[in-house]
Amino acid sequence: MKYALIGCGRVAPSHIKAAIENGLEIAAVCDLDASRMERLLENSGLSAEKIAAVRRFTDYTALFREVRPTLASIALPSGLHAACAFEGLKNDVNLIVEKPLAMSLADADEIIRLAKEHGVLVSACHQNRFNKAVQALRAALEAGRFGRLSNAAITVRWDRDEAYYAQDAWRGTWENDGGTLMNQCIHGIDLLCWMCGYEIESVYGQIRRQFHPYIQAEDLGTAVMTFKNGAVATVEGTVNVCGPDMEEHLTLLGEHGAVKLGGTSANTIEHWYFDDDPNDQKDGFHEPTRNVYGNGHTSLFADMAQAIRDGGQPYVTAEDGRRALEAVLAIYLSAKHGAPVKLPLPADAAGTNLEGFFDA
Ligand SMILES: NC(=O)c1ccc[n+]([C@@H]2O[C@H](COP(=O)([O-])OP(=O)(O)OC[C@H]3O[C@@H](n4cnc5c(N)ncnc54)[C@H](O)[C@@H]3O)[C@@H](O)[C@H]2O)c1
Repeated sequence: MKYALIGCGRVAPSHIKAAIENGLEIAAVCDLDASRMERLLENSGLSAEKIAAVRRFTDYTALFREVRPTLASIALPSGLHAACAFEGLKNDVNLIVEKPLAMSLADADEIIRLAKEHGVLVSACHQNRFNKAVQALRAALEAGRFGRLSNAAITVRWDRDEAYYAQDAWRGTWENDGGTLMNQCIHGIDLLCWMCGYEIESVYGQIRRQFHPYIQAEDLGTAVMTFKNGAVATVEGTVNVCGPDMEEHLTLLGEHGAVKLGGTSANTIEHWYFDDDPNDQKDGFHEPTRNVYGNGHTSLFADMAQAIRDGGQPYVTAEDGRRALEAVLAIYLSAKHGAPVKLPLPADAAGTNLEGFFDA
């Protein structure tokens, strides 16, 4: 399967590794910075012959038109995901789009519409759904082992310092990135909303910019979400940890089960109990990962390649990406208005709605 990667920055090694491990043909890469393309390919483990055969582009429109890959993944700055996805879809290319799917609901809707119009698939890159601990939790939930849900919580407590934000101008801006909720915490919010059955009733959020005055957006976000099924969830996302990344915890409490995932990216099972089998012990399970991105990209790429071959839907759809985006935007809009917001959000909800929020 002919594959192309657009954006050769920090997360790109996870994409190229996933593509290679799934036997995809690395047909082309694209980046404005040629040295990033070369560095990525040199470190990819591909043979010199294969590296020489990879076409290099600085313009993704030309790549889509000339290469016509079956599958491309978009790992550009978040504010560029939608425009690039539109181009890919208009050229009938199946896409894996890094999170967040887009920065506005209107753009997310257009991605979904274009994919249908052109008969191609889009997967939102929420790869943590494939973490072994997350998959075990999901299987228990789908088997009905929790019973009625009481409450859930996600906490993402990481450290991002000034040097991190200074790497690239897009980081921490409302238009192209958002803050810690939209960037670091959106995987956890995706997991939380997925586990709680998706139907969010209302969201009350608070955001702060505590220690990072040089970014536009929040470095701390907290929220309470209520779901139509009666579950209540709390969110805490922060990049204000002094020292190394601390944790990404996901807790789910039901009438007949209680599970807490942890580790730095929900890759560990810290607590596992179900009434139906108190001897079912999974506490202490740990999936080793090289970084907080985890191992999920390879599984997500495998799933997408299979969906393209078999004509099914990917495990994580564009609609799922839109749901995570809407949940984050709901926290932002609630913080802006100082009151809970009801879902669905208005169609014009976007990260840019918060422009100037901390300067007021
Ligand atoms: N799934 C995950 O766990 C995960 C992890 C990290 C980042 N991400 C997401 O991946 C995306 C990229 O993040 P990153 O940290 O790799 O960013 P990055 O800035 O390191 O990489 C982006 C690359 O895009 C290139 N670029 C910018 N504009 C371009 C254009 N118009 N055409 C071609 N190339 C262009 C830049 O030169 C850069 O090399 C973001 O949306 C981020 O949220 C996801």
